[in-house]
Amino acid sequence: MSESINMAVVGAGYWGRNYVRNFEALPEARLRWACDADAAALERAQRCAPGAQLSTDYLEVMADEGVQAVAIATNVSTHHAIAMAALNAGKHVLVEKPMAPSVAEAEEMVALAQRKGLTLMVGHLMLYHPAVEHLEELVASGALGRIYYLYASRVNLGRIRDDENALWSFAPHDVSLISHILRKKPVSVSARGRGYLRPDVADVVFLNLGFDDDTMAQIQLSWLDPHKERRLTVVGSKKMVVFDDTHVSEKLRIYDKGFDQPPEYETYGAYLSLRDGDINIPHIPLKEPLTAECRHFLRCVSHHEVPRSPGEQGLEVVRVLEAAEESMRNDGAPERL
Ligand SMILES: NC(=O)c1ccc[n+]([C@@H]2O[C@H](COP(=O)([O-])OP(=O)(O)OC[C@H]3O[C@@H](n4cnc5c(N)ncnc54)[C@H](O)[C@@H]3O)[C@@H](O)[C@H]2O)c1
Repeated sequence: MSESINMAVVGAGYWGRNYVRNFEALPEARLRWACDADAAALERAQRCAPGAQLSTDYLEVMADEGVQAVAIATNVSTHHAIAMAALNAGKHVLVEKPMAPSVAEAEEMVALAQRKGLTLMVGHLMLYHPAVEHLEELVASGALGRIYYLYASRVNLGRIRDDENALWSFAPHDVSLISHILRKKPVSVSARGRGYLRPDVADVVFLNLGFDDDTMAQIQLSWLDPHKERRLTVVGSKKMVVFDDTHVSEKLRIYDKGFDQPPEYETYGAYLSLRDGDINIPHIPLKEPLTAECRHFLRCVSHHEVPRSPGEQGLEVVRVLEAAEESMRNDGAPERL
């Protein structure tokens, strides 16, 4: 068994506390530092990690030569500065999504990690979800046939942000998930969004992705909605799947529905026959995706493996977001990627 990795978590707010809890609990890690600029956030983090050193200054953490890797869960505007400091100090980095607020900053982070030979992984949480792993296998095995189109909704009421709009806050999950299961990058993007609560921060965004084989994806993102939905529907030529992450136990439903083409037909009406078959609900073991993400990061660091969500993928997601932002400024005009 390999030795445990000495970790630091920078940013111990709403989401960062979950990193503190996980890295404190995992035997593959030793949490040396919890860091947050806000002393009250640090105090709350300390309750889950009583043995960790505390700091309000991330440079103090970077100066500790014993720290091998840093997880960053601060506000997106700070990801670049903190990640660059960590990489320059020779530490592996796990950075929350979106990895940076611009393509230029994301490119610098990827280039520095490559130059230093360090792991740079992005917290694209959905890729570590057991239901997504199942869905990925279904798509890869061809069980769904050719994927025609997908649509996702990530909506709820609340947690309004002023430093990120609904696009930057939510879309990284769906863009990374859809690209991952299709195993390809979008080639075009268009988006329309509106800030109803605050004109300069879009609360509601309708995002469209195009792929080179005519596959289409539509993603609805909002924190101003009466429902909490975390749903992705995948429509293939053989089967259709719904991934509903708000369902406690039935996360995936596989519908044996579609249209078959009989080998011989006489009229156009008989050209396609409707298939309305079984609905299968596979058993998916309940596991916390963030724990799987943290374990994967530690494994990549200790075994020098390329992560499932490397910095390069984070950069591609930021490229989509930046293009979508430009499209929103032009009220939905398509952008080529
Ligand atoms: N993967 C997910 O499902 C998920 C969920 C929520 C948030 N996130 C991401 O996590 C990140 C943080 O989001 P959050 O909701 O926890 O925000 P938050 O505002 O609750 O927490 C951010 C924390 O970072 C601290 N911070 C900011 N600048 C700092 C600096 N220079 N040094 C040290 N600490 C600093 C703040 O004091 C705050 O406590 C964002 O990138 C967000 O998109 C991911």
